[in-house]
Amino acid sequence: MGPGKLPIDPLPELRKRRSAKWRTFPDDVLPLPVAEMDVPLATPVAEVLREAIDRSDTGYAAPTGDLADAVSGYALRTWDWKIDTDHVRTVADVGIGIVETLRRVVSPGDRVVISPPVYEPFSWWIREVGAHTVEVPLAEGPRGWRLDLDALERAFAANATAYLLCSPHNPVGLVHPREDLVALAELADKYGVYVLADEIHAPLVLPGAGFVPFLSVSDAARRWGFSFLSASKGWNLAGLKAATVVTADPAPRRYVDRLSPHSLYRTGHLGVLATIAAFNEGDQWLADVLDLLDHNRRLLDDLLVELLPAARYRQPQAGFLAWIDFGALGWGDDPAEHILNTARVALNSGHRYGGAGFARLNFGCSPETLTEAITRIAAAA
Ligand SMILES: Cc1ncc(COP(=O)(O)O)c(C=O)c1O
Repeated sequence: MGPGKLPIDPLPELRKRRSAKWRTFPDDVLPLPVAEMDVPLATPVAEVLREAIDRSDTGYAAPTGDLADAVSGYALRTWDWKIDTDHVRTVADVGIGIVETLRRVVSPGDRVVISPPVYEPFSWWIREVGAHTVEVPLAEGPRGWRLDLDALERAFAANATAYLLCSPHNPVGLVHPREDLVALAELADKYGVYVLADEIHAPLVLPGAGFVPFLSVSDAARRWGFSFLSASKGWNLAGLKAATVVTADPAPRRYVDRLSPHSLYRTGHLGVLATIAAFNEGDQWLADVLDLLDHNRRLLDDLLVELLPAARYRQPQAGFLAWIDFGALGWGDDPAEHILNTARVALNSGHRYGGAGFARLNFGCSPETLTEAITRIAAAA
């Protein structure tokens, strides 16, 4: 049972799930890597899916404006961001949206900038379109992680074509302050760099931080920016395959207009139905999830202080991912491997995101599972 109203299934029930999180490791391993949560589906989402199954309504996604209306309604209600529904394109997932947009924005050999530690597939996506990845690491100061705007300016000036912004930033859980996004947009405008803003974790911004949509910050951001939004992280719908690309100016929009007219039909019909229900009727469920995550990010802090004081962790401002520095424990560059072998807890290897000595832990689980994970790791230490 989580805090608040979310009844999280016990582990034996969760182990019956057939998603990647539950089918990648043997049963003695506590799986806390893949970015799925252990929460039950939001009731409005479950209902719309059940109705579709009962009607054998499992064909192609329909070309209606309902998904664009739902995304724009949610953005306005939640972030006071007005999206023009004519500028919303449906794609199967954020990865496909970014790859297909990149394909149109960059040419093979072009330079695309990322800020590690960052979601590992960013560099795969750049490779997929034949471009070259330029790394400009985040800066870590006493108050947390920030974009390194000076280093980004140098990279942009050195012939960059595009920048992949992770906002909020996975895996460190950074919610970029407005002034950094404004400054980033100015740099994009000055050097002619497209900004592809992956905003998939935006619905999961936790108390104390406020999400600022990139396209809302300035005309410069709108001239150079694309936003990729989806309900897949917020409402745990990753397997259903639906996401959107949003633009707010004719310049980036002309690239989106060149996406295959077939992209709608490559999107999951059930994903579209579930996403509409999540964005239109999922606010209460999301509030309960945020309560759970807020509780768990603090619980993790308490557990580490008590049981593994040599580990270094800063509570994230968003999402269900914790970025933990195990460097002082002497477990080498890949503590996740050591932890899997000794404690039978699966985490993500931090070096894959650009953080040797770190591991990424998914706390989108019950407090009991989180407690057991840290207890096992501490016992093995
Ligand atoms: C920042 C980020 N972008 C994209 C994705 C994947 O999204 P999708 O399944 O819609 O491609 C994830 C999944 O964890 C993510 O963390």
